[in-house]
Amino acid sequence: MKVILTESYEESARKGAEIILDAVARDPGLLLGLATGETPVAIYRLLREACAAGTADFSKARTVNLDEYVGCREEDSYRRFMDENLFDGINLDKSKITIADHAADPAGEVVRLRAFFGANRVDLQLLGIGPNGHIGFNEPDSELEAGVHVTGLTESTKRANAHWFADGAVPDQAITMGMGDILKAKSILLVVKGESKREVLRGLLDGGKVTTRNPATFLLLHPDVTVVTERSLTV
Ligand code: GLP
Repeated sequence: MKVILTESYEESARKGAEIILDAVARDPGLLLGLATGETPVAIYRLLREACAAGTADFSKARTVNLDEYVGCREEDSYRRFMDENLFDGINLDKSKITIADHAADPAGEVVRLRAFFGANRVDLQLLGIGPNGHIGFNEPDSELEAGVHVTGLTESTKRANAHWFADGAVPDQAITMGMGDILKAKSILLVVKGESKREVLRGLLDGGKVTTRNPATFLLLHPDVTVVTERSLTV
């Protein structure tokens, strides 16, 4: 695992954006795995700026998102987040976007997305991490699912994400890529932002142990992971 320590979140975002832009430059038709939440916001802003400046070209790229809420309002969906933060600001062909549909029958979406991951391998997967170590919405539990599945959200995750919802009411369920889908990506970029991640980050950087109680530790099993985080979170 390669660890890049930075002096600020802005610097983490610049490193993250550089890694993504470099991957797109080398392989314009790549399949990018994308994350939502606070962590990628500045990364996506930098990708939009690169596109506007003509230094990045996403026209041949494909994307797939880690997760989506089940049954939320359209304005609270991760699809809306992605449109506003990235998709509407880059020259990506929108027919090449794969993301669960928040309004569709979740069982049908699981079938559709399992077929997608059966036929496709992510080239570069961008990840954030939840305060409890979740990646995607693979929440800490006694066992973790390998493939795309519907999952219940823990109270701690609901609390952490409530500020995104106008009424504060986070749905009880989400659809997420499984741990196997994430670990099948050719390379993984984990960006860690925020004081609340300190403990789970320590589990990943110092522990040397893989545990379903901190799903991010499964990244220790992958041969090509880059972690970008502020130095202050590691001391
Ligand atoms: C959310 C998302 C994750 C994200 C994580 C961290 O619940 N499902 O994919 O990486 O939690 O979020 P944030 O970046 O807002 O801290």
